[in-house]
Amino acid sequence: MNYNLEFRGDLNKVKNLNDLEKLRLEYFGSQGKITQLTKSLKSLSPEEKKEAGRKINRLKNEIELAFSQKQQEVADRNDSGWIDVTAPGIKPREGHLHIVSLAIEEITRIFEKIGFTRVRYPEVEWEWYAFESLNMPPNHPARDDFETFFVDQEPSSQYGKIVLSPHTSSGQVREMERLHQPPIRMINIAKCYRPNWDVSHVPMFHQFEGLVVDRGINITHLKGTMDYFAKQFFGPNRKTRLRPFHFQFTEPSFEVDITCGVCLGTAKLADGSRCRFCKEGWLELGGSGMVHPNVLKAGKIDAQKYTGFAFGWGIERTYMMKSGTKLDDIRLLYSNDIRFLEQF
Ligand code: PHE
Repeated sequence: MNYNLEFRGDLNKVKNLNDLEKLRLEYFGSQGKITQLTKSLKSLSPEEKKEAGRKINRLKNEIELAFSQKQQEVADRNDSGWIDVTAPGIKPREGHLHIVSLAIEEITRIFEKIGFTRVRYPEVEWEWYAFESLNMPPNHPARDDFETFFVDQEPSSQYGKIVLSPHTSSGQVREMERLHQPPIRMINIAKCYRPNWDVSHVPMFHQFEGLVVDRGINITHLKGTMDYFAKQFFGPNRKTRLRPFHFQFTEPSFEVDITCGVCLGTAKLADGSRCRFCKEGWLELGGSGMVHPNVLKAGKIDAQKYTGFAFGWGIERTYMMKSGTKLDDIRLLYSNDIRFLEQF
């Protein structure tokens, strides 16, 4: 019996998977060479069988290994059996950060340049930080402005119920507690939760909250910071204005408006028609104001010595107002539709 089959010559002639399959049948098919060898064992004595079996096994393993190496080799080539080394490679698709993450990074960079420190406070929060410490005692009607998810847990006698924080203002007193003393220049970016779902609301969204506390801080610092941000984020030709408003935790309080990116604050389009994108040339960005003395007191900061300002805006909303982002349904941001996300 010949246990030294010369298979390598045949294997070298193999050019593609078809050839390889034919050769495989020549060796391992029902009439194949290996199969014949195995069948021939029957006629041997037990002693010879042992020895021959070992040899056949060794041969079989050797051929199988060579076949699988050949298979790999031809699979890496095209069918004609040559490799085109000049063909362009297949590039893996490159991903990128989600636009909300990109916006968070951009906003952080803008505020870090003027000395703010980015922090992040709990999304699952005590009522005390979300409301009481912000001058909204239990049952105060102002709480209704912040529709809130409550967590079904035993309340604390000191801090009240557990909520999903409806705004990043809950980080204000936490930051005062962390630093103990001014100066404070915080930018708190975190997820917020409110039970709303429509074209301009999602139940989970992001806010960025600025808080500055120091000696002699006044409204001009707030206005200057707003202008700086608007120009950096939206472009040098945008202006802001403060419009009187009410929040329990700031006094006085303002809504910050920015000139419309479409009509640039004129409320008119080039053809003389009224701009439909804005109200009288202005778009509303979000809330702000001078920190209420009761909030400073809750954070154990001397309200006689120190004053501060704060602002809190939605990231998604702010980003949508950047000119060029024509997003008419905010829910698209979280729909995970790759065709939408790829655009950014
Ligand atoms: N927390 C307010 C909101 O979510 C915004 C705000 C923050 C207003 C800071 C004033 C000062 O609407």
